[in-house]
Amino acid sequence: MKGYRIKTLNEFIIEKQAEFPFAKGELTRLLHHVGIAAKIVNKKVNKAGLVDIIGEAGAVNVQGEDQKKLDVFADAQFISALQASGECCGIGSEENEETMAFDDDFSKEGNYIFLMDPLDGSSNIDVNVSIGTIFSIYRRVSPRGTVPGDVDFLQPGNKQVAAGYIIYGSSTMLVYTTGRGVNGFTLDTSIGEFCLSHERIQTPEDGTLYSLNEGNYVHFPDGVKKYIKYCQQMDTATNRPYSSRYIGSLVADFHRNLLKGGIFIYPETAKAPNGKLRLLYECNPIAFLAERAGGKASDGFRRILDIQPTSLHQRVPFYTGSKNMVEKAEEFLRASSDEA
Ligand code: AHG
Ligand code: MN
Ligand code: MN
Repeated sequence: MKGYRIKTLNEFIIEKQAEFPFAKGELTRLLHHVGIAAKIVNKKVNKAGLVDIIGEAGAVNVQGEDQKKLDVFADAQFISALQASGECCGIGSEENEETMAFDDDFSKEGNYIFLMDPLDGSSNIDVNVSIGTIFSIYRRVSPRGTVPGDVDFLQPGNKQVAAGYIIYGSSTMLVYTTGRGVNGFTLDTSIGEFCLSHERIQTPEDGTLYSLNEGNYVHFPDGVKKYIKYCQQMDTATNRPYSSRYIGSLVADFHRNLLKGGIFIYPETAKAPNGKLRLLYECNPIAFLAERAGGKASDGFRRILDIQPTSLHQRVPFYTGSKNMVEKAEEFLRASSDEA
């Protein structure tokens, strides 16, 4: 009988490294450490209802939002794992106002910059709904041995060398790309390993799910309002009306749409002209994954990955998911802006 053997995340990344003859294993080590932090955070997330970890940590983060204890915990875990890897010279995080540029001799030799939303969907922590971690990895531009600066942290998304997310859901998964395929690993808690479960994910070109916070409808731009009406219209040829699905955790909403086909929108509104989501550690990594899985990501008019960032926490309107759905939404936006 032909035996079936599972492939762990570490086996997979080492195998992939062999495809690059000159690879020195640096990115492999970095990803390995991401996996370690993910497992530690996962353990804490699972215990969230049991121990005194839920609830506000008392601090308010740079976005003016209350920090939950798990945000702070996840932030610290990823930072320490990445620092221990020796491959990371700097970190930018949603939870920290300034970028962290390491100046110790060990880390200054690191070749990579790490940007993250350590805990995404924090409003869902206390109510046992899926949350996540999002990360984005760049090769530094400045020479090794120096302290990294803006030139390293503020690179456009098209320069990402890897990106991914961890979803702490009904099962915990790590999904990442290094620019070739998008691969998903499910955590087998009995052996404590992420195991390859979703190889070379391709997202459907069309879908029947649309995901956005319709409670904000009155604030949406005209094009988005019209697109929502389009989604709700009856048309058997295009499987409309579509279903509406919105969790309120970007990672979970994106993950579902990636596998099933759909569109996720967090548009600009009158109150928030750049939307809510952050370019560097939410939209760029998700956009990279979307594109590599055959989908699309834009701010309604421009490709997300081509936007030149100007600051760590900048926000951007976000439209991502199945290619044909994103293009349809863009059509509505263009038509409305032409009318204006
Ligand atoms: P975070 O928990 O990291 O602050 O992110 C929350 C984000 C994102 O996950 C989600 O898509 C969005 O906020 C939901 O916002 P609304 O509650 O405004 O819909
Ligand atoms: Mn977030
Ligand atoms: Mn967050």
